[in-house]
Amino acid sequence: MTTKTDPPAGATAPPAEPNSRREFLMKAGIGAGVVALVGQAGASLRSLVPNVSYDAPTTVKLGAPTDFPDGMKFLPDERLFVFREGKTFHAISAVCTHLGCTVRAEALSKVEEASVEGKPLRLTHRFQCPCHGSKYSGDGTNETGPAPKPLAWYQLSVAADDGQLVVDLAQEVGHDFRLTVA
Ligand code: FES
Repeated sequence: MTTKTDPPAGATAPPAEPNSRREFLMKAGIGAGVVALVGQAGASLRSLVPNVSYDAPTTVKLGAPTDFPDGMKFLPDERLFVFREGKTFHAISAVCTHLGCTVRAEALSKVEEASVEGKPLRLTHRFQCPCHGSKYSGDGTNETGPAPKPLAWYQLSVAADDGQLVVDLAQEVGHDFRLTVA
């Protein structure tokens, strides 16, 4: 036979352990959820930034200097005119400064000797844009039409490893630039 005893007067009830545990688990769950959400957001933002650069290289090997005839050679991939006079080279962009069409070179009926930015230059061609009719002189100066400025001249150099001509399409130079190869 069992007897039931009441708690002594003034005694407090034991802490409600199940409730504390439930609160702890709930807070832990919310914390984990927040951490997961922040991680997910970070991963999403990171995915917007590419790991690789798709920029095209600006320096391009064009071939051995001997591959270029005296006069002018058009390189369609680089949209570039390379001019050679003996051992001296310069390169003029074929990209129209109006809206970027490829200009065409027209051979002059008679070679002109000019002085451009204080340096002599043999002019063998002039340039015309088929899109809106801009015309450029043999050194690329815009003469008529909507083209707002001259065709770009680009820096040429000789590759140290194999002696090829190299153009830097990010490096504009003045119209007095010449590369002389050995
Ligand atoms: S793109 Fe050359 S004149 Fe317009």
